[in-house]
Amino acid sequence: MSRRTFLKGLGLAPSTLLIPRWVMAAQAKNPLQIPPRLDDIASEKGKSYSLRAQAGTREFIAGLRTPTLGINQDYLGPTVFLRRGEDVELNVSNTLKEQTTLHWHGLHVPAKADGGPAQIIEPGTTWSPNFTVNQNAGTFWYHSHLLHKTGEQVYRGLAGLIILEDEKSDMLDLPKNYGVDDIPLIVQDKRFNSDGSLAYIGSPRDVMMGFFGDKTLVNGTLDPVFRPTTQRVRFRLLNAANARSFTFAFDDQREFQLVATDGGFIEKTVSCSSLVLGPSERAEIVVDFNDASPCKLISLPLGSPFAARGMMGRMQAGNNARSELLTIEPAAKLEQSPALPTELTTLSPLNPRDAATTRKLTLSMAMGMGMMGGRGRRGGGGGGNFFINGQAMDMSVINYRVKKDTTEIWEITNDTMMMHPFHIHHSQFQILDRDGLAPEAHERGLKDTVKVGPGETVRFIMRFENYADPNTSYMYHCHILEHEDNGMMGQFTVE
Ligand code: C2O
Ligand code: CU
Ligand code: CU
Repeated sequence: MSRRTFLKGLGLAPSTLLIPRWVMAAQAKNPLQIPPRLDDIASEKGKSYSLRAQAGTREFIAGLRTPTLGINQDYLGPTVFLRRGEDVELNVSNTLKEQTTLHWHGLHVPAKADGGPAQIIEPGTTWSPNFTVNQNAGTFWYHSHLLHKTGEQVYRGLAGLIILEDEKSDMLDLPKNYGVDDIPLIVQDKRFNSDGSLAYIGSPRDVMMGFFGDKTLVNGTLDPVFRPTTQRVRFRLLNAANARSFTFAFDDQREFQLVATDGGFIEKTVSCSSLVLGPSERAEIVVDFNDASPCKLISLPLGSPFAARGMMGRMQAGNNARSELLTIEPAAKLEQSPALPTELTTLSPLNPRDAATTRKLTLSMAMGMGMMGGRGRRGGGGGGNFFINGQAMDMSVINYRVKKDTTEIWEITNDTMMMHPFHIHHSQFQILDRDGLAPEAHERGLKDTVKVGPGETVRFIMRFENYADPNTSYMYHCHILEHEDNGMMGQFTVE
């Protein structure tokens, strides 16, 4: 007898029953948590930061303890503040019972310091890369990059934000009071089991489409509310989901100003009413709350050209509903903010005629059975059902050797029915065109990840300079982590 028929037998409607605590918690609003700042200590290598991968538990849902991973805390990690020109050393210790790595997504660093799948941190050991911060101000992030395990470790919490400042960001009159009017929003989707534990891959579809949750967390907060105290707020949006794209918008359709993308400021602010970020993409937006009316940051269903097609479109549809991300309730009296600058920076476009080569990469996937993640075919150096130029990731194969101090064009063709967010390590790039058309205003800035829609071809141009190391590679891959973990990744050296 099912619970429902049993209840019927008692003459009870299900709604008259005690509501489980977690349902009530879902209706309550929790103050948005702000990741703490990570303080540095001076060392002979410059500023030194301590990051510790650890296991813990977090009460996302009232009354339930969720086993999690985190950096210096139970879930996610502190925000690392870097300044251009500074020498930094990051001491990453692994207190987990498993291997991990920590990658500085979007940072321009030597290959050895990159934290990719080759820079494994064994349990009980510390990895201490150092480098000079050498790029524009912007919002970046760090996350686990362990071969075949990135999806699972990031999902359980091994990720955090990096905020990089420079002289330009100092000069610009933008909201910059961290936690007050400069607010990170690390957005992720999760699926919880009834005991509060996080569900991860449960079916082949979770690998094929990438893993989707049915609840969203912002900075690890379920059902978050943020109460602005200033007229304008700068949100640093990070899509830290494994597979979901978020189409950010406000439920009252208010416009917002885009000021920065993955690699830092765009040249002029762009006014938007919605903005799509694929996994790992960032955007800094400034929102005006002068009307003091409450609103919600929401995600709209993914539209063209990035929505999946055909059978995959039908599978994605259920994952792709409108969702509420953050309730915003401005204070009755708001502190004035300075007028928003419209001119932000100047970027020098790389010239396609200076490109030494064009590399063509085609993304593809095997369909049908055998999509179940991991287990069984994990041996060796890689493998899986996702390919770049017909090859799955292989740790023993260096796919490209790039010459230092050259410029290259990379042409990415998506031969599948769903979007893949293509990410490359080492540097930021500039998008040249999307199916032959010049990028729209919001895609004209520096990027390290670009969404390539089903059937699309995207070209970008990038400069490879400063660091050379013939023995250590950088990665490029799809940032749907289940795709990355199952083969859609490759490696290159700069030498
Ligand atoms: Cu965000 Cu290769 O990673
Ligand atoms: Cu990266
Ligand atoms: Cu993909």
